Amino acid sequence: MSIIILAIESSCDDTSAAVSKDAKILANVIAGQKVHELWGGVVPELASRAHQQNIVPVVDAALKQSGISKDEISAVAFTRGPGLIGSLLVGVSFAKAFALARNLPLIEVNHMQAHILSHFIDSKPSFPFLCLTVSGGHTQIVLVKNYLEMEVVGETLDDAAGEAFDKTAKMLGLPYPGGPLMDKRAKEGNPDKFIFPEPQIADFNFSFSGFKTSVLYFLQREVKKNPDFVQENLNDLCASIQKTIVDILLKKLEKATKKLNIKEIALAGGVSANSELRRRFEELGKKNGWAAYIPKFEYCTDNAAMIAMAAHYKFLNKEFASQDIEPLARYYL
Ligand code: KG4
Ligand code: ZN
Repeated sequence: MSIIILAIESSCDDTSAAVSKDAKILANVIAGQKVHELWGGVVPELASRAHQQNIVPVVDAALKQSGISKDEISAVAFTRGPGLIGSLLVGVSFAKAFALARNLPLIEVNHMQAHILSHFIDSKPSFPFLCLTVSGGHTQIVLVKNYLEMEVVGETLDDAAGEAFDKTAKMLGLPYPGGPLMDKRAKEGNPDKFIFPEPQIADFNFSFSGFKTSVLYFLQREVKKNPDFVQENLNDLCASIQKTIVDILLKKLEKATKKLNIKEIALAGGVSANSELRRRFEELGKKNGWAAYIPKFEYCTDNAAMIAMAAHYKFLNKEFASQDIEPLARYYL
């Protein structure tokens, strides 16, 4: 009998529902939330209200697109965390209600584990591989031993790589989320025009807060001399900031991969949509003879397809959740 999963993702500011059949994605519907642009960042209370409005139509659309009827569903999966607690609550409550009403098993999924398992939607890295997970809230190097067996070998001590993009973009006057806009502008800029210091952090860990402060002080100094400095150098600033972030990320990944003697690398999370990171990541793989995996663009940022993938493997392991399960704002791998 086929395993058919209805999966819900609501950890941050995207409401998403997906349907999978035997680990093949039949539908993956994502509703973004424009409301946060105005505020320069995600406003948690507005996010949970938007999830409440979006969740029923999004699930409905995913089911229609998949051609699957409610009677065929084997289990309902949801993101348990990490994420914004109010946002998570909407997805968890919906999944519980749906499962209870239709007498279906529930499967809870760790969002970070799901980002990594998005690789199995279209490809099949072999175990063990190292995954660099870079999102708005997390930056980790994870040793993936099996579908559900993972170990964090390095992570950020402060800000995530996505935050480094978004916050420095904000300093340049770009609207939220600044990462994709910085990516676009960087294509027209000179990445070697401005040099920013890279942090010296032990082991395979990262830090972005010192880098962020150095960009801020640099801009303040230059704007004092020339009030139009940012406008006149916007593309070069974007290219130089982006290059520094990518350098920081890939140097650590290369160091960890060599040290652990791993032959396959993968990239996951929202920041893996960054074109420079994708290009240089592939280059890194080629240079060292490592297989390098990047998920399709639509599976890089938050989506429920990756939740369905994680749930599929949990279903095979019979890892079901009970009706009294609660979301976790902090949920470690
Ligand atoms: O994984 P994700 O969708 O949500 C979280 O779980 O955080 O990641 C969102 C992050 C944001 O910081 C956003 O600016 C960044 O991914 N991002 C990018 C690009 N596309 C999304 N950063 C740089 N370049 C991009 N093209
Ligand atoms: Zn994410």
